[in-house]
Amino acid sequence: MAVLSPPGAARRRSLRVRLLISGAVAAVTAAGVAVVMPAASAAESTLGAAAAQSGRYFGTAIAASRLSNSTYSTIAAREFNMITAENEMKPDATEPNRGQFTFSAGDQIYNWATQRGLKVRGHTLAWHAQQPGWMQNLSGSTLRQAMIDHINGVMAHYKGKLAAWDVVNEAFEENGSRRNSNLQRTGNDWIEAAFRAARTADPSVKLCYNDYNIENWSYAKTQGVYNMIRDFKSRGVPIDCVGLQTHFTGGSSLPGNFQTTLSSFAALGVDVALTEVDVTNSSTSQYAGLTQACLNVPRCIGITVWGVRDSDSWRSSESPLLFDGNGNKKAAYTSVLNALNSAGPSNPTTPPPTTTPPPSGNGTRIVGAQSGRCIDVPGATQNNGTRVQLYDCNGQSNQSWTLTSSKQLTVYGSRCLDAAGSANGSAVQIYSCNGQTNQQWNVNSNGTITGVQSGRCLDVWGTGNGQQVQLYDCNGQANQRFSLS
Ligand code: G3I
Repeated sequence: MAVLSPPGAARRRSLRVRLLISGAVAAVTAAGVAVVMPAASAAESTLGAAAAQSGRYFGTAIAASRLSNSTYSTIAAREFNMITAENEMKPDATEPNRGQFTFSAGDQIYNWATQRGLKVRGHTLAWHAQQPGWMQNLSGSTLRQAMIDHINGVMAHYKGKLAAWDVVNEAFEENGSRRNSNLQRTGNDWIEAAFRAARTADPSVKLCYNDYNIENWSYAKTQGVYNMIRDFKSRGVPIDCVGLQTHFTGGSSLPGNFQTTLSSFAALGVDVALTEVDVTNSSTSQYAGLTQACLNVPRCIGITVWGVRDSDSWRSSESPLLFDGNGNKKAAYTSVLNALNSAGPSNPTTPPPTTTPPPSGNGTRIVGAQSGRCIDVPGATQNNGTRVQLYDCNGQSNQSWTLTSSKQLTVYGSRCLDAAGSANGSAVQIYSCNGQTNQQWNVNSNGTITGVQSGRCLDVWGTGNGQQVQLYDCNGQANQRFSLS
């Protein structure tokens, strides 16, 4: 069945193309230099590239044993830009004997992915299932210590290499209470103990809680997980993201309130991601709907489907994936791709960049559209040369900026937001105000903030606390959009 773009999509894309061209031409004129114009942005033709237009990823689970199948690996490398090991980084795979770690299968996937420029999510460190036999037989403080040792051992191996870890997997019952597992019986604080150990083991990786049947906002299990995340955030337990597995089976399908669930979790100050998507018989409407829900929530950072072809799925009899057993794209593939392309590289209703009048008054926050976090001077220092970062908005003076009539963004009265250079990747820092053009900024109505000297956009690579702000070529993605409020 052919799946058509929604009626307005083509028109919106052509408008977007025109906006991109007019913006690019303006940049050329302003800079007065010869620039090779990129081809007008057409709809992207792979899932990963289409998702990247809005700063998101599109991933899949990979089984190491299937990588030698060229149909499988060709599709995987072409379509996806985030990879999860389906089983190879789980406790039974990585610590088959206590204290004896093995990463051969996990590394096979990691190496395959990173050699192709794909990022990797780690799955999973603490789970009631797929524990090695020796762990299943432990209890109490011995099991608690074994869990911590496992987290330390595996995270040390992958330190600094992964985009995220599913630190704890599936720890709740359907009724919203904690799952009665051997890990739970070590004490109710086992989940926070796991997250604290994980943060210490690798401070650079995002730490996620991952579960299924938490997509329906009014479901007891969703509320149970939500309350735990809220509690963790209020007490400073380190957690960065929630993974909603999004296994839609015959009995559970896309809920009408899915977007509410995503935005409610995000409002707690965590990223959200759809981590193991599969849908009975690949319903095109459910696939399009779950994709659109993610696109509608700025902190929904990406979508992962749980396998490549139907024949690779743990639910293969339900044909739940985006490629059939022969590797052909299914109608659901087209519905997802169209949804991703409709979101496009920028908000299609956004007018071309123009400089807006400064917001009145002092104490303006600069809030990232993708992260929901504020531009922040670390440690409230006033030292010249301190790079600014994203951080949870807190209303304090190190997040309070004033846009002056001379285009400066001042903080603490006397320090200015300052570009340390004009190239891609240049640091954005605070410095004593000096009236130069590297301290002048255009706050544009499309949400970008461009340096007068460089013409480049304020840009952040990620969404977490501590992500540094830099200059980069404006690309219309959400990680380059900010609101002053
Ligand atoms: O590799 C052995 C093979 O040698 C043996 O002959 C065969 C006999 O059953 O088993 C094979 O291992 C299987 C393994 O998948 C690899 O195919 C295991 O039995 C089987 O239990 C295992 O299933 C995995 C399941 O997690 C285990 O809980 C699925 O592949 C995997 O897709 C699934 O993934 C989970 C996520 O981690 C968490 N969320 C739910 C999701 C689906 O259950």
